[in-house]
Amino acid sequence: MSLLKAATAVRENAYAPYSRFKVGAALRSTAGNIYVGANVENVAYPEGTCAEAGAIAAMCAGGEYQIAELLVISDSPMPVTPCGGCRQKIAEFAGPDVVVTMINLEGKTSVVTVADLLPGSFSAAHMANVNDA
Ligand code: THU
Repeated sequence: MSLLKAATAVRENAYAPYSRFKVGAALRSTAGNIYVGANVENVAYPEGTCAEAGAIAAMCAGGEYQIAELLVISDSPMPVTPCGGCRQKIAEFAGPDVVVTMINLEGKTSVVTVADLLPGSFSAAHMANVNDA
């Protein structure tokens, strides 16, 4: 199954009664498996989780920790972009050259890399001076 098909399908399962903005995400691991996620909101608004976070959690639950490619889809006027927190979450499991495809329901598409999304990202290398880091 393609990432587009997988993300489009899982988007329908988003729980977004507050924003009414359903988002689907699908990623392919370096092992070639597809993991999906949709946003899950909460009446305590900050407790909601993004589609990308769900897909990443599913990948880790599957015992995989390397993203090869990621796609995110929503019903937005322009291709939906991952929020700041999700950019950091993606960078945890994807190298700077990993391709992120952002798309809306009309098919308007934007293709970028993880480095494009989060230039100069904070990484474990910044903690190199800490003993045992
Ligand atoms: N959202 C995502 O799931 N992913 C994105 O890339 C952007 C925003 C969700 C969070 C919230 O449930 C809703 O969209 C509106 O912000």
